[in-house]
Amino acid sequence: MAVLIKNGTIVTAEGERKADIYAEGESITAIGEGLQPKEGDEVIDAEGKYVLPGGVDQHVHFSFSYKGSKTRGFETSNAAAVGGTTTLIEFVNQEQGRGLVETLDDYRKNDAEGIAMVDYAFHSVMTDPRDEVIEEIPKLAEAGYPTMKLFMAYKGQFFHADDDALLKALQKGKDAGVTIMVHAENADMIDVLTNQLIAEGKTAPYYHAVSRPPVVEAEATRRAIYLAELADAPLYVVHVTCKEALEELKAAYSRGQRVFGETCAHYLVLDESDLAKPGYEGAKYVCSPALRTEEHRDALWEAVDRKWLNAISSDHCGFDYAEQKHLGYGEGKSFADIPNGAPSLQNRLNILWTYGVCEGKLSPSRLVDLYATTPAKVNGLENKGQLAVGFDADIVIFDPAYEGTISYKTNLEGVDYSPFEGFAQKGRPETVFLRGQKIVEDAKYIGHKGQGKFVPGKPFGASYEW
Ligand code: URP
Ligand code: ZN
Ligand code: ZN
Ligand code: ZN
Repeated sequence: MAVLIKNGTIVTAEGERKADIYAEGESITAIGEGLQPKEGDEVIDAEGKYVLPGGVDQHVHFSFSYKGSKTRGFETSNAAAVGGTTTLIEFVNQEQGRGLVETLDDYRKNDAEGIAMVDYAFHSVMTDPRDEVIEEIPKLAEAGYPTMKLFMAYKGQFFHADDDALLKALQKGKDAGVTIMVHAENADMIDVLTNQLIAEGKTAPYYHAVSRPPVVEAEATRRAIYLAELADAPLYVVHVTCKEALEELKAAYSRGQRVFGETCAHYLVLDESDLAKPGYEGAKYVCSPALRTEEHRDALWEAVDRKWLNAISSDHCGFDYAEQKHLGYGEGKSFADIPNGAPSLQNRLNILWTYGVCEGKLSPSRLVDLYATTPAKVNGLENKGQLAVGFDADIVIFDPAYEGTISYKTNLEGVDYSPFEGFAQKGRPETVFLRGQKIVEDAKYIGHKGQGKFVPGKPFGASYEW
């Protein structure tokens, strides 16, 4: 089966041009002007539409548990598809007492295979840094899992990591090509402030932001950068949210250090006033690091445009509001009991297009780089994230003329709210192909369970220039 998409504006990280694109089997086999179909080919006229590579969302939590409460899983991955994301990368916490690779292999077999509706890869999360676990790090690269995160935040949780574990991971990962990632916040600072706030009766969701101000993130970012310098290893900082942390990244770039920074869609369009919404609404916006002020938002937009930040992910976390977000509600409870994270898998591209491209903050080409091309490269997904011959035929036909409103009621995340509820939306993915198979038509999911497959990553993001 082959498909010819004619007359669209093809967007790559390098620029835009009007051309036709032909996909045969699972790959893109031709891009050019005046391409002709063969008999039996599907032909789609994309006049007036953009043709984008399928998005790569490098930061997804389908298996995240916070104080015993667990997110929605791969059964909701069709939300990615209708949002124009055809590959996602899931963080899997190492189970205590078990190995890194065995935890990932089991999760992959039991919770992703046969369920996933888009392609997927994994980041390991080291939670149990015994000597033999450190020794195991090179095996991650051999198994197709070349990225591993440590949580510098979340003191008291089993997944929290200290500097000794981080330094050893950086040293060990370097030789094997395993990229070390960090959630950079100073756990002790947060712990002290949290306990003080609770003692003062300041327990509402808004105090989540007060318990972890920008300096908390900046300090940990700087510390991680220096640990990476000592180890002479690359460092990948997830969800950068503030000016102060950006300054640390910029200083590292100027010293020639191999550092990579990501931000997420919600930090670009939401702010801490959302945490202060009346009633208990603010709980919907409890994520870490916390939402910041407008000043930081502006700095992030500038940073993604100027390549001080390199990728925009969702940090999708499917906790519901009715029960899970209410774990911080009532007598004796506080913001510290609220599961962290928000559902955002489906609307990453819609938000970036409406509030980035339509407002002149990002070119379509820069958007493609941030939401697909660079995430594929840095995570070593060699056939993903680009509209080019030989790459997987993961293709989005994007209709810029659509206008609508974002609502959890019409999305597939399986959660009873969206942090972007009521946001105006301009443009939408109309048709989506996953390796040449049509999985979205007229903006509706038409694929099937288990259609997504595991994509092994190459060590150190083979084609990423650090
Ligand atoms: O608040 C967040 N981001 N929750 C998910 C886990 C993490 O820290 O990335
Ligand atoms: Zn610690
Ligand atoms: Zn995090
Ligand atoms: Zn996360």
